[in-house]
Amino acid sequence: MMDSILSPTPLDRLAAELGSDMEAVSTLIRKRMVSRHAPRIPEVTAHLVEAGGKRLRPMLTLAAARICGYEGPWHVHLAATVEFIHTATLLHDDVVDESAQRRGRPTANLLWDNKSSVLVGDYLFARSFQLMVEPGNLRVLGILSNAAATIAEGEVLQLSAARDLATGEDTYLQIVRGKTAALFSAATESGAVIAGAPEDHARALFEYGDALGIAFQIADDLLDYQGNSSATGKNIGDDFRDRKLTLPLIKAIAAASPEERSFWKRVIETSRQEEGDIDTALALMERHGALAATREDALRWAERARDALRTLPDHPVRHILHDLADYVVARLL
Ligand code: IPE
Ligand code: IPE
Ligand code: MG
Ligand code: MG
Repeated sequence: MMDSILSPTPLDRLAAELGSDMEAVSTLIRKRMVSRHAPRIPEVTAHLVEAGGKRLRPMLTLAAARICGYEGPWHVHLAATVEFIHTATLLHDDVVDESAQRRGRPTANLLWDNKSSVLVGDYLFARSFQLMVEPGNLRVLGILSNAAATIAEGEVLQLSAARDLATGEDTYLQIVRGKTAALFSAATESGAVIAGAPEDHARALFEYGDALGIAFQIADDLLDYQGNSSATGKNIGDDFRDRKLTLPLIKAIAAASPEERSFWKRVIETSRQEEGDIDTALALMERHGALAATREDALRWAERARDALRTLPDHPVRHILHDLADYVVARLL
């Protein structure tokens, strides 16, 4: 996963630093994603898991535990839990978004069907609950189970806000905090809590995960307009086709002239999208600086993530997390 031969990315550095712990997480994931009774389960999970994925969230858990000086075995279970929750949400998400490509492969809903994706997603959620109980730490159990509920709330809120031109930046932030940042912050906070970290360190790591998750999702939403599919492994333009009110769109709509507003009304509120509408949408976003302003917002959240790290013990992994905050939005620069 090297961006260039010369400089390893913060993700590469994190993976190198967490080496044997991450191997233990991968082994645990492979062990728990199977089922003895329903062969469809390992087929679907292997399809998605073998395609890779950045494993960003489990690395955050391990990193937080490491910074807080943890020496026990349970951070591995928590990291695997977090990746299981993530994988379950991806299976469900691609059904809800009717997406055709994930991690550079056809989605499970396309290769099998929606029913398999929903049910195998449910299975992975259930497996994540089995995993999160095993450390026997009630507080960590609370953090991770709350995150699972918050993600679902974020997704449902997004569903109700889609196709509604009145959706503003506050609602957008609430959606993103729920559907994406809740798992990032649970990943980092649970790592700190299992380590028995002091309250202010657990709080700082929570804040870091929250801000990083928001920056990450804003970047993802920008890439849905500006990215390229061979780099993201996903199809571009899904959000526009779905008439989803993501940040670049919200900003462009807020600045729209009456004439532009009638364009937005047609493409977002009705099902009458036409060939070329996405190019018009992009031109309007450019006209009002909506893409640049979205990028600025992502950068501000990355800065908040970096700031949250300040009070933590000086540790090599802390420095990598610092650079990671820039990295998740750097793909936009
Ligand atoms: C995709 O997350 C879902 C979003 C929150 C945008 P990732 O980009 O971390 O997905 P993988 O695990 O690396 O494929
Ligand atoms: C990702 O949301 C799924 C969750 C965070 C639950 P999106 O639908 O925005 O992400 P991609 O672009 O499909 O990965
Ligand atoms: Mg999606
Ligand atoms: Mg989605």
